Formats: sequence, structure tokens, C-alpha cells
Amino acid sequence: MLKSCGKKLVLSLVGSMLTCFLVLMVDQQKGQGLSLGGGGGGGGGGPGLLLLPPFESSRPAAAPGISPWPLRGAGGSAGQSLRDVQSFTDYFTKLSRSKREGGPGGGGGGGGGSDRPEAGKQLRPPAEELWPRDVFIAVKTTKKFHQSRLELLLDTWISRHKEMTYIFTDGEDKELKKRTANVINTNCSAAHSRQALSCKMAVEYDKFIESGRKWFCHVDDDNYVNVRMLLKLLSSYPHTQDIYIGKPSLDRPIQATERISENKMHPVHFWFATGGAGFCISRGLALKMSPWASGGHFMSTAEKIRLPDDCTIGYIIESVLGVKLIRSNLFHSHLENLHQVPKSEIHNQVTLSYGMFENKRNSIHMKGAFSVEEDPSRFRSVHCLLHPDTPWCPLNVVY
Ligand SMILES: *[C@@H]1O[C@H](CO)[C@@H](O)[C@H](O)[C@H]1NC(C)=O
Repeated sequence: MLKSCGKKLVLSLVGSMLTCFLVLMVDQQKGQGLSLGGGGGGGGGGPGLLLLPPFESSRPAAAPGISPWPLRGAGGSAGQSLRDVQSFTDYFTKLSRSKREGGPGGGGGGGGGSDRPEAGKQLRPPAEELWPRDVFIAVKTTKKFHQSRLELLLDTWISRHKEMTYIFTDGEDKELKKRTANVINTNCSAAHSRQALSCKMAVEYDKFIESGRKWFCHVDDDNYVNVRMLLKLLSSYPHTQDIYIGKPSLDRPIQATERISENKMHPVHFWFATGGAGFCISRGLALKMSPWASGGHFMSTAEKIRLPDDCTIGYIIESVLGVKLIRSNLFHSHLENLHQVPKSEIHNQVTLSYGMFENKRNSIHMKGAFSVEEDPSRFRSVHCLLHPDTPWCPLNVVY
């Protein structure tokens, strides 16, 4: 009786040890097979490259429930040096391995998102004092919109902050240069293609690094920037730390496929801040992005992942460097219902926008200094609300 009991005990002990050993082995192999950092990898995503819709004036990403970019079968991107691709991958592998071994810093399983840092719900205490000259705001535009869109920005928010604002465009315009000194002709194509957009983002990044400033912020030419709130938000983070802040346009991470070699792909998923709402990056983080973003590298990174400019930024930061996007609801793009920003909260927002959303005119909903006919974007009314001392703002308006 006792003897057989002992035998059983030994057997079950050996059995469970064996199971443990097997589980460990499998786990380790899985670990090695994991793709790039960010704690991603996981099951999903068959091989395939991202198919991008032709880009018009808006991104397809916002509408909830609509899959942003369907996957398609393999397709070639010609002219890539295999050696280049391999060293790129080697670097990633090393990076993600050291991150796995490195413990707390990089850890974190992707997915979920409930463990993500958030900003803007409550004001954090200031971490450092910031002046307008510490921030580099890049406004992306195209020659076609110099009059219809930029004029409005130059009349409103840019007029007060010329020293911090740089306009990135694709065509010479003497009239524009008369109005503000910081106009940069990127010499990129004026097409609204993925490549042309990445080309501009690459120039924005290089000019920011060159400027020596503490913060990089990117906005589009349909954004109103409330600089006072922008400074308040950024000053609550040290610019030497890794900070990436903005609003995701999707309610889940984007799924993408990284091309490793001719016929090898890695699924990756990561969050990114939508460029249409504006986003900011600390200098500390921007410097770390350099191997994938500086010089011509941003374009080739975008090509490898086959995603537009703002997604590529998210890819470099989240997937490659393992730094998480800080979500903020204070940034707004035209791909969300802007009527939902309450009038009483306008002065607390960092960026606003206007445009079309689901075939309807979309703008901040407010009575104000000007009628909707006079001021369809509502930017002039917003500007008079925030800065009633502006010469062209009517006196004694009851809001
Ligand atoms: C664009 O081209 C002009 C003329 O060749 C040059 O002066 C300028 O530096 C270029 N811009 C950039 C951002 O390279």
C-alpha cells in the first residue's frame, strides 16, 4: 500500500517536471520567434503587405468599425538592397532581444491598451518651464492650399507664434514668405501619396533636430493650435525623457507587416497618433529615432512597413523603440465629430480642426464673433474667444 503510493508519487513528480520542461522549451522558442519589440507578435496576421487606398485629402482611418487598411497578398517593392534589409532586421532582433532581457523598461504586453498612459484628463504638475521658443511646430501643407487654408492660420493662431511655427510645403510662394519667415520648401512631390507625405515628414524631422529645440510638434494645415494649452501640456513632461503624445485615430493598434526579406514577413501591431490631430515628440525620444528617421532613413523605414507618415512615426516609436504613445483627448482631427467639443471646453483643447466628416460639414459648434457663413471653419470665432484683444475681433460679443 505504502509502496505503491510512493511509486505513484514519484511517477507524478517526474511527469509534472517533464511537462514543466516542455512548456519552458516551447516558451523559449516562441520568444525567439517573436517579431519586433512592443510586446507584439502574437498569433494573428497572415503574410501580406498593407494595401493603401489612394490618399485624398483625408485619411480613411477614423470612422469607427471600418477596417483602415485591408491586407493584400505579397507584392514587390523593387530596388531594395537585401543586405540593407538584413542589417535592419538584425538590428531589430538585437534590440528586441535586449529589451526582453532588459526587464521593466521595455516589457509590457501590447494589445489591450488599458495599461496605456493617458494625458489631459487631469493637469499634471509642471516638470519644467517652457517658452514658445522651446517648441518647434511643423505645419504640413501643399501649394494648392496656401491661400485657402494657410491664410486662415496666419490670420489666427500663427500670427501670435511666428517664431515657433515652421511651414513645410512643396512649392515656392513669394507672397507666403512675405507673411512669415519660416517657410520651408521641402522639394517633395505635391501629390498626396504615401511617399510624398513621408518625404515631408522626413524634412520636418531633420529641421527639428537642426533647430536644437526641446519639443517637436506636427500639425496639418487644417489645425488650430491653442499654443497656451500646448505649452501647458508639454511642460508637464521633461523633454529629455521619451515622450510621444497625441490622439490615436483607431480604437485598437494598427496591424501591419514588416518586410524582412524577399519572402519573409513579420506581423507587427502598434498604436500611432493620427497626424490630422497633431502630435508631439520630446527631443530625447526624437534623438533615439535618428537611425530610422534622419536623413533618408525615414523614407526607407516608411517603405519597409508600407505605411503613411504618421503610422511610420508610431512604428518607429512603439514597435522599434518600445515607447508607448501617451493618449490625449485634447488633440482633434476632422475625422471625429467636432460638434462634440463643448463650448465650455474649447479653451482647454490643444488642437482643433474642421472639414468634412461622413459627408457633413464638420467644425467646432459655437456661436461666436462671426456667423457660420463668414467663418465656416469657426477658427476666427475660436481665436476671438481665446484672444479677444485681436484687432479684427469685434468688441463686446456675448458668447
Ligand atoms: C529645395 O531646393 C532648393 C533649390 O535647389 C534648395 O535651396 C533647398 O535647400 C531645398 N530644400 C530642401 C529642404 O532641401
